[in-house]
Amino acid sequence: MIDIHNHIIPAIDDGPDTLEQALELLWQAEADGIQRLVCTPHMHPGRYDNDITTIKPAFDDLVKQASDAEIGVQLAMAAEVRFSDEMMFQLRNKRIPMIGQWEGYDCLLLEMPHQNIPMGIEHMLEWLEKQKIRAVIAHPERNKELMAYPDRVLPLVERGALLQVTAGCIPGFFGEKAQTTARWLLDHELVQFVASDAHHAKRRPPAMKAAADVLDGWYGKDVRDRLTLTNPDLLTFSLFAG
Ligand SMILES: [Fe+2]
Repeated sequence: MIDIHNHIIPAIDDGPDTLEQALELLWQAEADGIQRLVCTPHMHPGRYDNDITTIKPAFDDLVKQASDAEIGVQLAMAAEVRFSDEMMFQLRNKRIPMIGQWEGYDCLLLEMPHQNIPMGIEHMLEWLEKQKIRAVIAHPERNKELMAYPDRVLPLVERGALLQVTAGCIPGFFGEKAQTTARWLLDHELVQFVASDAHHAKRRPPAMKAAADVLDGWYGKDVRDRLTLTNPDLLTFSLFAG
């Protein structure tokens, strides 16, 4: 499997505090069936003030340490970008490490606030479209407004947004409401990617294998492969090619 969303780089956001914890999480990811993993630390202005200038050196250090520890998972780098006014500035200044390409568009992993769909997101998606950029929306199934009204995701999808569901929501590790919302999105074939959003070996483990097992039961192996391997591979091919 290929994991396109996690917080494995240590001491840069709310992921592992130490290198030891990060390596433990990487071992766990490998045992969970993950062969390739895109590190996506938070870029959240005022909370986690990351951009490519802080993420790249921390990522390079993790790659070296993972290699020294003989961890077999291949690593690449992107970011989980909080929806904000600063996004446009960060994009223009090329401060956002992108998560790959889809149908000729560059893609960024976009995080909405957890309570609601933010005002202006439709305009932002239209503006991104003009720049030949698409958003991969992280964990829509955990957004409170979408949990109550899942069809409110449709205007976003119509404007080119791709959707990434959290692996742990599929077996119900984030509660029943997140699980039923994830199922609704999957049943309506709106989801391109399932990813771990792993933060910590104990508190927030990857859970990709648990998700894959449930997906096999719900939709069969072809759909599971598309969500956890084929689509993530298409998206991130350029990141791993170099
Ligand atoms: Fe995340």
